[in-house]
Parts: sequence; C-alpha cells; structure tokens
Amino acid sequence: ARPDALPRDLEGVRVVVSAGGTREPLDPVRYLGNRSSGKQGYALARVAAQRGAEVTLVTAHTVALPDPAGATVSHVSTAEELRQAVHAASESADVVVMAAAVADFRPANRADHKIKKSDDQPDPVITLDRNADILAELVRNRRPGQVVVGFAAETGDEHGDVLDHARVKLKRKGADLLVVNAVGDGKAFGTEDNSGWLLGSDGTEIPIPLGAKAELASTLWDAVVSFMKR
Ligand code: CTP
Ligand code: CA
Repeated sequence: ARPDALPRDLEGVRVVVSAGGTREPLDPVRYLGNRSSGKQGYALARVAAQRGAEVTLVTAHTVALPDPAGATVSHVSTAEELRQAVHAASESADVVVMAAAVADFRPANRADHKIKKSDDQPDPVITLDRNADILAELVRNRRPGQVVVGFAAETGDEHGDVLDHARVKLKRKGADLLVVNAVGDGKAFGTEDNSGWLLGSDGTEIPIPLGAKAELASTLWDAVVSFMKR
C-alpha cells in the first residue's frame, strides 16, 4: 500500500522493533553469525512509522539496508548488546517486537589475538555459553498493557509441522503474539517475501499468505492494534 493510503492508527504508540542477525566474536576477525537479512524487521519499523508510531529500531547486522524513515535507530552487534539496547528502549514502550535473529550461544572465550593454526597444537574446539533469552525477559518484565511480539522461523520435522512447533513455542515464550515463518527450501531468509502464521495468546491463528515483507508488517500491526483495544 502507498504510505499515504495507510491508516494512522499507531499515532502516539511507542514501538520497539529489533532486527537483523547478531554476531558473536571468536577473535578480532571471526564471529558466529546467522543468515538474517534484517528486511522483515526494517519493514515492521518502516510501516509502524508510516502508521504514526514513535519507533525505535534496535538492529544487529543486516544486508546493507538504509535506516527506515521516521525511526530512531540503534546499531548493535552481539546478542548482549542487543539485549541491553532493547531493554533500555522497552522501558517506555507500548509494543515490543523481537524480529531479530538472536544467537542462542556465544563462544565461551573471545581470543584477544587472531587464532592461528599450528602443526604442533591440537585443532581448537569452540565451547559455547548460552545467551540470555531476551523475549523471555521482556515477557517477565512486561508492564501492564505492554504488548510483546515474538518471531519464529520453523521447519517441520518428525515431531510435527511448522504450526505444531509454533504453538508450543508461543506457550513456552509467553508472548502475546508470535509470527511464524516457514523456512527451508529457500523460504524467508534474505528473500523479499514471507509467509506463515500469526498466532495469538488468545488462540487466534491467522494465516499470512506469501507476500512482501511490508504486507506481513501490515498484518502484524493490524493484529497489534486489535490486541491493544481488547
Ligand atoms: N529470542 C530472543 N533471545 C534469544 C533467542 C531468541 O529474544 N536469545 C527471540 C527471537 O528474537 C524471536 C523468538 O525469541 O522473537 C524466537 O526465537 P527462536 O530462535 O525461534 O526461539 P528459541 O527459543 O531460541 O528456540 P530454538 O531452540 O528453536 O532456537
Ligand atoms: Ca534460537
């Protein structure tokens, strides 16, 4: 939709969106990362601003994306940096959307110097420590009336299909809304389009047809607006 055709139904609403993929350093030149492009989070921030919201975008690494117009943008790198920035911005937020791909683990040790290979030393083994679950912390610290939204990229497996996994994750995470993207086979990561489901803690399940990431953003903000009216 053209920006001037969008409703101004987020006027005065303070929104925090996290986006992109975090990087966990191994040494000064190497990191553990992920394939998040950041496009979905940026689309969420852009559309929210177009609908009148006061938007803070906390972004980790993305493909080269311009800062969305009308948003305050904070650039971070690691999961811990994203965590600090999201919590600080969320204190006064009405809605927090965790679209970032946050590393579940970080290398237990970060070498001060570039790790070298050597013929008389054994090859290194990377030990990982668990990162904090930011979404779970947001749910635990939620202010009355604050809406917390999670994202999940799921594939089906022998334990169930995408929707089965998503229902379990929504329960486990305690978020108000969970956007579920089906991934694998070139779906979602880095592409222009997304599809999936929008699950609500009230049991609503809205299918999201394959479409531009801005379309998914509009569907999510529609759901957030009706969630805030309850
Ligand atoms: N998330 C988070 N902090 C983390 C990991 C994930 O806030 N350390 C958020 C993501 O931003 C996303 C949601 O949690 O909104 C779901 O992420 P996902 O990786 O699907 O869930 P996990 O609980 O990490 O489960 P899994 O073992 O399937 O990766
Ligand atoms: Ca994870």
